[in-house]
Amino acid sequence: MAEKPTVLVVGASRGLGFALAEEYVRRDWNVIATVRGSSTQLDELKSRYRDNIEIERGIEVADAQSVRTLRERLSGRTLDVLFVNAGIARSIEKTPSTATERDFLDMMLVNAFSPVRLIEMLEDVVAVDGTIAVMSSELGSIANNNGFWDLYSSSKSALNMLMKCYLGHRPDNRRALLLVAPGWVRTEMGGTDAMFSVDESIPLVVDVVTRNQGKMGLRFIDRFDEVLPW
Ligand SMILES: NC(=O)c1ccc[n+]([C@@H]2O[C@H](COP(=O)([O-])OP(=O)(O)OC[C@H]3O[C@@H](n4cnc5c(N)ncnc54)[C@H](OP(=O)(O)O)[C@@H]3O)[C@@H](O)[C@H]2O)c1
Repeated sequence: MAEKPTVLVVGASRGLGFALAEEYVRRDWNVIATVRGSSTQLDELKSRYRDNIEIERGIEVADAQSVRTLRERLSGRTLDVLFVNAGIARSIEKTPSTATERDFLDMMLVNAFSPVRLIEMLEDVVAVDGTIAVMSSELGSIANNNGFWDLYSSSKSALNMLMKCYLGHRPDNRRALLLVAPGWVRTEMGGTDAMFSVDESIPLVVDVVTRNQGKMGLRFIDRFDEVLPW
């Protein structure tokens, strides 16, 4: 019997990251899910799927040492999919003259710099023909955004740029590299006015990751596999 594939979901305590872990385990994958604090819902999921979920605790993506610890814990493992989901939104209605510098810097650190650093530090445990996905956003499209969540959107554009550069440094890359836009979803970050439920987004996100498996190169896509303009 073929071995179950393995996915690592980074930032799986709640919201879309938790839903990713739940969707993959339902599809009979081995799931390694990271949290930085506690997550009752992930603990409850593990109690239902004991053999198929491992929880890696204390993983703070903005802390290089924490990511190094995660890499050490993964020694000897091979990931079919690495999905970096962790992200934050601050000062969403503000612009540079009204937001705090701290909020902008925190978003740049957590949403752009840290995911790509984590990918660089963990890439050697991803199968050479595996998939590396990062949760981007429709708002990260410079071409399409005409003034919505300005600072957060900028951090997602920066994430997209860093992934483009990541690929540029790896001309022999055989992995599928995906910047995935999940739609505007009702989570703590998305808020109650968001257009879609988690169930209307995440199964499609997982479908899209599966569909792109083995397609080398970098794509910025939505949950319907439509290519988004940079
Ligand atoms: N919801 C939307 O409409 C939407 C749309 C487009 C893109 N996205 C993106 O989708 C991803 C998930 O968003 P969400 O809506 O599920 O947000 P959420 O409900 O606020 O959840 C954010 C998740 O990221 C984790 N996280 C945040 N900062 C972290 C850090 N420094 N280190 C480790 N984990 C960290 C959180 O962990 P804690 O529980 O420890 O805080 C939590 O698990 C984000 O990248 C977001 O930008 C969301």
